[in-house]
Amino acid sequence: MNYLELAEEIAREAGEMLLAKRAGRPVVADTKSSPTDVVTELDRASEELIRSRVPAGHAVLGEEEGATGSGSVRWIVDPIDGTVNFLYGLPDWAVSIAVEVDGQIVAGVVNNVPRGEVFTASLGGGAWLGGERLRCTTGVPLEQALVATGFGYSAARRAVQAEVVAHVLPRVRDIRRGGSCAVDLCSVAAGRVDAYYERGTNAWDHAAGGLIAREAGALVGGMHGRPVGPEMAICAAPGLFEALHDLIAPLDPERDS
Ligand code: IPD
Ligand code: CA
Ligand code: CA
Repeated sequence: MNYLELAEEIAREAGEMLLAKRAGRPVVADTKSSPTDVVTELDRASEELIRSRVPAGHAVLGEEEGATGSGSVRWIVDPIDGTVNFLYGLPDWAVSIAVEVDGQIVAGVVNNVPRGEVFTASLGGGAWLGGERLRCTTGVPLEQALVATGFGYSAARRAVQAEVVAHVLPRVRDIRRGGSCAVDLCSVAAGRVDAYYERGTNAWDHAAGGLIAREAGALVGGMHGRPVGPEMAICAAPGLFEALHDLIAPLDPERDS
């Protein structure tokens, strides 16, 4: 089975459904970790559609419904990454689907629906935007780097994230807060930003975009040599990765108070 082809087909189908049903301002159906962490009926509908297309016998980890099934193949799904952008009608929200086999991500698709851009990667097969092979920027010194970041939904965590970004901002070219972790990682892959870091993202946020960024030449990891995880995600070309890591490390950016 060609996992990348199937993942792309499903991500496109979910994107079409979301565009068709996103008439007017979507209604907030529920809140999750905090009052600003919203979920719409369409987050749920998108995950349902994706799950209905996953081959029988495969496990799924989805943001809205959690973990189901077991086995060596697992689909990691964010049915809408950038829900706040989706809600407000801003571009840059995406359907993110990754396929993991025996613990390794082998395929990733990020469908930035409002922009009509579908980013794809397979392990060892490069990162692509349509027919264009993606390469992250290289050789950019920290003080010239355009750095994307994001903020969590808890006020306490945000207060620390504000401290960290206040330290970073005067030492880089500028900061961008796009509103979708998956799109931010694809932006690193495409050279639209030079680096990205964020505390508090989950596998469904970075599984597909992380593979796309790696296949475009970037490093994706956490603090002090640890793998990417909810504690921290950093993404940039070798050299800039270490410089950004070393810039934020003294602030202990993995704390929440
Ligand atoms: C969020 C987005 C955002 C990031 C948050 C994520 P959601 O995902 O990726 O850019 O800053 O950490 O939770 O809630 O829109 O799926
Ligand atoms: Ca997300
Ligand atoms: Ca989401």
